[in-house]
Amino acid sequence: MATAMGKRLEGKTIVVTGASSGIGRSTAMEFARTSPKNLKLILTARRIDTLKEIAKEIEKEVGSGVQVLPVKLDVSNPSEVRGFVDSLPVGFKEIDILVNNAGLVKGTAKAPDISDDDINVMFSTNVTGLINMTQAILPIYKKREDGGRGDIINIGSIAGREPYPGGSIYCATKAAIRSFTDAMRRELIATRIRVMEVDPGQVETEFSVVRFYGDKTKADAVYAGCEPLTPDDIAEVVVFNAARRENVVVADTLIFPNHQVGPLAPISIYAMPAITAILLIVSSGRGHSHAQKVVTFLG
Ligand SMILES: NC(=O)c1ccc[n+]([C@@H]2O[C@H](COP(=O)([O-])OP(=O)(O)OC[C@H]3O[C@@H](n4cnc5c(N)ncnc54)[C@H](OP(=O)(O)O)[C@@H]3O)[C@@H](O)[C@H]2O)c1
Repeated sequence: MATAMGKRLEGKTIVVTGASSGIGRSTAMEFARTSPKNLKLILTARRIDTLKEIAKEIEKEVGSGVQVLPVKLDVSNPSEVRGFVDSLPVGFKEIDILVNNAGLVKGTAKAPDISDDDINVMFSTNVTGLINMTQAILPIYKKREDGGRGDIINIGSIAGREPYPGGSIYCATKAAIRSFTDAMRRELIATRIRVMEVDPGQVETEFSVVRFYGDKTKADAVYAGCEPLTPDDIAEVVVFNAARRENVVVADTLIFPNHQVGPLAPISIYAMPAITAILLIVSSGRGHSHAQKVVTFLG
C-alpha cells in the first residue's frame, strides 16, 4: 500500500541536478523508492554514463513504474541550461519538482592566493548554474493555476550560514544561494510555488575528493575519526520536504551529524583524530607553522 508521501508524489516529474554522485544520486533513489508506481525522474550531470547506470539501478530496484531520463547537462554552461527544457521529450516537460543539487568546492586557498579557475568554477556551478536552472524551469510552474505551482529545493550548506577560513569562495557561493532562495520565496508568495532550502553539514560523498583535486588520502582524512552524514540522510529530508501537503513549506532545513555544531572543527574528543589529520595535511602541504589557525571543512 502506498504511503501518504508516496501518494502525494505520484505522477510528478522531478529534475535532480548533480544526480551522478552523492546527495543527488541518493535523492533520485529515494524519490523512486518513496513513490515507485508512477514517477518521472530527469537525472542530470556531466557524467552521462554514470547517470545511465543509476537509471538501470533504479529500474532494477523499483521496477518500471519510475521512468528515468538521464540527461547530460553542465549547469555551469548557460547555453546548455537554456536549451535544457526544449530538449526534453514531450512526456517529461511538465516538471513539478526541481532539486538544485549540483555543486562543488575547490581547494582550501585563502585570498590573495585563490586561483581564477577555482573562483570561476565554484561561482558558475553553485550560483549561476543554480540560478539559470531555476530560470529555465520557473516559467513551466508559472503557467499553472493560482499564479503557479511546483517546487524548487535548493541544496545550500552550513557554509552559507557560517563562513570559514580556507573556504571563502565556496561559503560565498552558498550564502548567495541562501539570499537568492529567500528573495525568490518572497517574490513568489502570491503563487503556490514552494521554494525550499536544505543545508547539510558534513556528508561523506565525492565532495572532499573534488575539493582536494582528486587526492583521496586528503579527502578520507576529513572523515577520519568522525561519523559524517550519509548522502541518504540528506536525500530522506529532501524527499520528505517535497512530499509535504501542498500548503506546507519546509522553507529551511539545517542538518548536522551528531558531532557537528558549525562548519569548523568538531570539538568533541571523539572527533579529535579528524582535526589532527586535517591540521597535519593542510599545514604540512602549505608550510603553516600555526596549525591552530587552520580549520577543518565540514560542509
Ligand atoms: N558533502 C558535503 O559535506 C556537503 C555539505 C553541504 C552541502 N553540500 C552540497 O551538496 C551538493 C551535492 O554535493 P555532494 O556532497 O553530493 O558531492 P558529490 O558527490 O561530489 O556530487 C556533486 C554532484 O554535482 C555534479 N556537478 C558538479 N559540477 C557540475 C556541473 N558543472 N554541471 C552539472 N553537474 C555538476 C556532479 O556530477 P558530474 O561530475 O557528473 O557533473 C555530482 O553529481 C553540492 O551542492 C554541495 O555543495 C555537500
